[in-house]
Amino acid sequence: MCGIVAYIGPKDATPFLLEGLARLEYRGYDSAGVAVAGRTGGIKVRKVKGRVADLAADVPARFKGTTGIGHTRWATHGVPSDANAHPHLDNAERIAVVHNGIIENADELRARLTADGAVFRSETDTEVLAHLVAAHAAEGGELEDAVRAALGKVVGTYGIAVLDARQPDRVVVARNGSPIVLGIGEKEMFVASDVSALVRYTRQVVHLEDGELATVRADGFRTFTEDARTTHRQPSTVDWEIDSYDTGGYDHFLLKEIHEQPGSVERTLSGRLDERFATAHLGGLDLDARELREIRRVKILGCGSAYYAGEMGAQLIEELARIPAHSEPASEFRYRNPVIEADTLYIAVSQSGETYDTLAAVQEVKRKGGRVLGVVNTVGSAIARECDGGIYLHAGPEISVASTKAFTSTVVAFALLALHFGRIHDLSPADGRRIVSALKALPGQIREVLAQSEEIAALAAEYADSTGMMFIGRVRGYPVAREGAQKLKEISYVHAEAYPASELKHGPLALISAELPTVALVPDDELLDKNLTTLGEIKARSGKVLAIAHRRPEARLADHCVLVPKSEPELDPLLLNIPLQLLAYHAAVALKRDVDKPRNLAKSVTVE
Ligand code: F6R
Repeated sequence: MCGIVAYIGPKDATPFLLEGLARLEYRGYDSAGVAVAGRTGGIKVRKVKGRVADLAADVPARFKGTTGIGHTRWATHGVPSDANAHPHLDNAERIAVVHNGIIENADELRARLTADGAVFRSETDTEVLAHLVAAHAAEGGELEDAVRAALGKVVGTYGIAVLDARQPDRVVVARNGSPIVLGIGEKEMFVASDVSALVRYTRQVVHLEDGELATVRADGFRTFTEDARTTHRQPSTVDWEIDSYDTGGYDHFLLKEIHEQPGSVERTLSGRLDERFATAHLGGLDLDARELREIRRVKILGCGSAYYAGEMGAQLIEELARIPAHSEPASEFRYRNPVIEADTLYIAVSQSGETYDTLAAVQEVKRKGGRVLGVVNTVGSAIARECDGGIYLHAGPEISVASTKAFTSTVVAFALLALHFGRIHDLSPADGRRIVSALKALPGQIREVLAQSEEIAALAAEYADSTGMMFIGRVRGYPVAREGAQKLKEISYVHAEAYPASELKHGPLALISAELPTVALVPDDELLDKNLTTLGEIKARSGKVLAIAHRRPEARLADHCVLVPKSEPELDPLLLNIPLQLLAYHAAVALKRDVDKPRNLAKSVTVE
C-alpha cells in the first residue's frame, strides 16, 4: 500500500526520503516521488512510474532542500504513471501533497475547483487536496490552518504530508484512517506512514490519532485536532531490532521470516506460561476471572491470513474453553449490520494493526457497545489503540507481504488465550499441563520442520508445474488448508482451492484428475481413518497426493509425504502449517516470482 515519508532538519532531505521510501517498498507500490523545499527556490518535484531505484536514478545531484516529502503509490484512482505519482502540486506550485487513503468526494471537489480555475494534471483524488490547500493558503495565514480548512471539506480517509514553498520551515501532516508516525531526532524530525522507514534514524516516535494533525519543524512538533485544539502526545520507544528490516543473508524476507519462527514463537510465549497453575498469564486482557466467566460467545474478526489464524483460534477456544467461538472476515462483518451482544467477546486480529477493514469492524462493535480485544503485532498501531485490551504478538516486524511468523504467533496467542479461558472454565489441571508442555515444545518442533526446507523445495519444484492445486483438511486441518492455499496463490500465482476434506465428495471431487494435485493435511488424530479414506477416493481418480502427516500413509494413498512432529491434537495445526509456508515459498522461487513483491498485493491494506 502507499507509503509516506517526510524530513525536516539541517541536512539535505533527499537521502532520507529515498532511503525511507526504499524501506517502505515491501508494502507494495507502483510509482514513487519526492518533493523538497529550501530557503530559496520554491518546490522541486521528481516522480516516476516504477521502482524507488528508478526515482533515485532520476533525481539530479542539485535536487536538494532541507524540508521534503516522499511517497510510494499503490494505484486506486488512475493508472500507475508519472503524472499520477505523488507528490501533487497546485497550479502555482506552492503546495505539494502526498496522500495515502481515498478521498470519497474527490469528483465533487474537482468540479468545484475546476470551476474556480484549477487545472488538473492527474487522474488522482489526491490532487484535489493540493488545489484545496493552496486555495486556503492563498488567503494568508499559517499552513496548518489552510490544511485544517481543506480537510474540513474532505470526506474519506487520509494520511497526508503537506509542503509549502512559502513556509519551508515546516511540514503539516494529518491522519484519518491511514497511519502517520512522527520520528523525533536531534534537531531534526522525520515522518513516515510506517516505523520501518524511521528506525535507522530514531526510536522515539509519536503515532497520530485519527482526526489529529501535526505541524512538524526541525526542533519539534505540535499536535492538534481538526478544530484547532492542541493535543498532548508523549513519544513512545520502538523496541524492534534494526536487523529485522534486512534480509540478513536470506534470499528473501519471506524465507527469513519463515526461519525466524522458533524465535518469534518463543517471544509470544515469553513470560506468559504458568506451569504451577497450568495456565497462561495475559496481563493486557484487562478482564478479571469473573468478567471472563460471563462471556458466552467469542467472535474473531480479521482479514486474509489473520482471519484464517482466527479460525484456528476459534477452534482452540471451543476445544479448550468450551465457549462457542467463530471467526469472520472483518471486511464482511463491517458491512452487514452485525448484531452486537453484550456477553460476546470480540477479538480483532491484525499483524499490522492498520488494516482498514479490521479497524472499521472494531469501530462498529465499539459504537454498538461491544467489548473488543486485539491480537496485534504492531505496538501502538491504530487497531491496538482502538481495542479495550489484548495480546501483543511480539513476533517482530513482518516485512514480507505474505504473512508467516505473525500468522504462527497469532495462533500461539490464541492457544494462550484458550488455555487461560479454559482454566477459568472446565479445563482440568492435567489438560492445562498437557497444553503448557506442548506450547513449550513448539519452537524446537518448528526447527525440525524447517530442517526439511531442501526436501520441500524439491517437492515444490515438482508440484509448481501444475495449473492448480487442491488443499484439503478436516476440522482442525481445514483452516490450515485455507491458509496453505492462500499462501500459494499470493506468492506463486498458482490457482489453489481449499476444501474441508469431508466436502470433497459433495462436489469438488469432480475436479480431481492427474492434472490437479492435492495437498492433504493428515494428522494422526481421531479423524485419521476418515482422511485416509478421502486419500483413497482421490487416488481412485488418478489424483496426485502430497500428504503433510505425522505418519507416512501407505504408498498407494500418497505420492509424497512431509512428516511433521506430533504436538497435542489441539496444537497440531500450527506445525502442519509450516511445511505449507515452505511449499509456497519454494514454488514461487521455482516459478521465478518476485517473492517479496507479489503482484497486485500490498503489505498493509489501509484502504477499503
Ligand atoms: C496474507 C496476508 C494478508 C493479511 C491481511 C491482514 O499473507 O498477508 O491476507 O493477512 O491483509 O493483514 P493484517 O494482519 O496486517 O491486518
